[in-house]
Amino acid sequence: MATRLPGTVTPPAATAPETALPAARVRGLVKDFGERRVLHGIDLDIRRGEFVALLGRSGSGKSTLLRALAGLDGETAGELTVPGAVAVAFQEPRLVPWKRVLANLTLGLRQANPKEAARAALAEVGLSDRADAWPLTLSGGEAQRASLARALVREPDLLLLDEPFSALDALTRITIHNLVLELWARHRPGVLLVTHDVDEALLLADRALVLADGRIARELRIELPRPRRREHPEFLALRASLLAELGVTPEGTT
Ligand SMILES: Nc1ncnc2c1ncn2[C@@H]1O[C@H](COP(=O)(O)OP(=O)(O)OP(=O)(O)O)[C@@H](O)[C@H]1O
Ligand SMILES: [Mg+2]
Repeated sequence: MATRLPGTVTPPAATAPETALPAARVRGLVKDFGERRVLHGIDLDIRRGEFVALLGRSGSGKSTLLRALAGLDGETAGELTVPGAVAVAFQEPRLVPWKRVLANLTLGLRQANPKEAARAALAEVGLSDRADAWPLTLSGGEAQRASLARALVREPDLLLLDEPFSALDALTRITIHNLVLELWARHRPGVLLVTHDVDEALLLADRALVLADGRIARELRIELPRPRRREHPEFLALRASLLAELGVTPEGTT
C-alpha cells in the first residue's frame, strides 16, 4: 500500500452520483433492553454519499443505534428505513480464522463472480498479496483493511463502522483514514462512523452527532474543505465545541 504523508487526507473527486433515496431514515427510534430504555426516540437521516460521525460517552447507545441500523438487534420501536445494501465493520476485524482472507470476503457473497469481486476489493485496500493468508497471520492494520474490503465488496449503500480504527497505532490509523476517505469518495455510500476520537470525526465526517443518554444531544456540520488540517482555527474551534459537549474540559472530565 502506498505511503502518504501523515496528517493529510486527500480523497479523489467523487465519481458516482448521489441518489435521492436516503441511505437511512430513522424516526422516533426506541430501544429497550428489558426494563431499561437505551434509545429514547432517535431521529436521523443519512444521505447516500454523506459521511456522519457518531460520538458519545461509553454506554450512551452508539453501538445500539448502529446495530439497529444493521438489523442486528431484534425488536425496536419507531420507524427505521434502510432501503439499500448495508455492510458493517467493527472494532475487531471479526475475520473467520479457519478461512483464508479471500474466502472471508466471498463468504455469503451473492455476486455473479464473487472471487473476482473479492480480489478487486482486496486490491483497493492494498492487500492483493495477502489473499491466501490466514487471518491470524495478518497485522492489526492488515486485518482491519481486510475487514473494510469485506464490507466494500458488498457494495453497501450504507456503511456502518463501529470504532474500527480505535485499536490501531497512530501511524496506521492515519493511513487507514486516508484509505477510508478514498474508498468513500470512490463508492459514495452513506457512512455512519462510531468513534470516541473527536479528531477522527473532524478529519473524516461531513456531520458529527453527539449521543447522550440515548438522545441526539448535538449535531454539528463540518464544512471544512478536505484535506483537513488539525491546526486549522476552525478545526480547533469545532474540537473545543465537541469536547465540551462530551464533558471534556482542559481541566479533565466533568
Ligand atoms: N444486549 C444487551 N443487553 C442489555 N443491555 C445492553 C445490551 N447491549 C447494550 N446494552 C446496554 O445499553 C447501553 C448502551 O450500550 P452501547 O453498547 O450502545 O453503548 P456505546 O455508546 O456503544 O458504548 P461504548 O462507547 O462503550 O462502546 C449500555 O448501558 C449497555 O450496557
Ligand atoms: Mg459501542
